[in-house]
Amino acid sequence: MEAVVYTSNTGSTEHYAKLLGYELSVSVYSTEEAGNKLPAGTEIIYLGWIMAGKIQGYGLARKKYKICAVCAVGMGQTGTQRKEIREKNSIPGKIPVFTLQGNFNVEKLHGMYKMMMSIMVKTAGKALEKKTDRTPEEEDILDMMLHGGERVRIQNLQGVISWYNGKR
Ligand SMILES: Cc1cc2nc3c(=O)[nH]c(=O)nc-3n(C[C@H](O)[C@H](O)[C@H](O)COP(=O)(O)O)c2cc1C
Repeated sequence: MEAVVYTSNTGSTEHYAKLLGYELSVSVYSTEEAGNKLPAGTEIIYLGWIMAGKIQGYGLARKKYKICAVCAVGMGQTGTQRKEIREKNSIPGKIPVFTLQGNFNVEKLHGMYKMMMSIMVKTAGKALEKKTDRTPEEEDILDMMLHGGERVRIQNLQGVISWYNGKR
């Protein structure tokens, strides 16, 4: 593994990438930095934030680099949605996929993203609020939608760190 490359909008994915790079003693680059510094075919772990199920920047990254693992950062709890994310992003079975819970705060978004998520909070948020038998995961997402939340935790990287250590 030669590098960690990430795409972040509000900073959670960047935070995870830097924590992971530190833990694995591997250099960390944003996609823009990597564009100038990393040659095509470099072995990387790719981290991208999730928008409507799509891992941002993954499509371009997979054309250029040899992706050894993917971390998708979203609102859902760490370790959930792995199958859906793999399918929606057409990630081959041999590449491990890890999902990590990041931060969310509609007030920190701008432009189109703010508009999209304000609608989502009003629709999905209201529907969840009405639900009487919410699972703990739904409770957590509702709380994030209504009050915002900061969920980046080093422990959430345990899965990818164990995978990396087991591979060496
Ligand atoms: C427009 C938009 C769409 C999103 N869609 C999803 C989604 O489909 N699934 C999910 O888990 N999180 C979704 N999120 C939440 C972000 O992935 C989450 O806030 C993540 O932590 C952002 O990472 P960042 O801080 O690196 O930008 C969405 C956020 C925005 C702004």
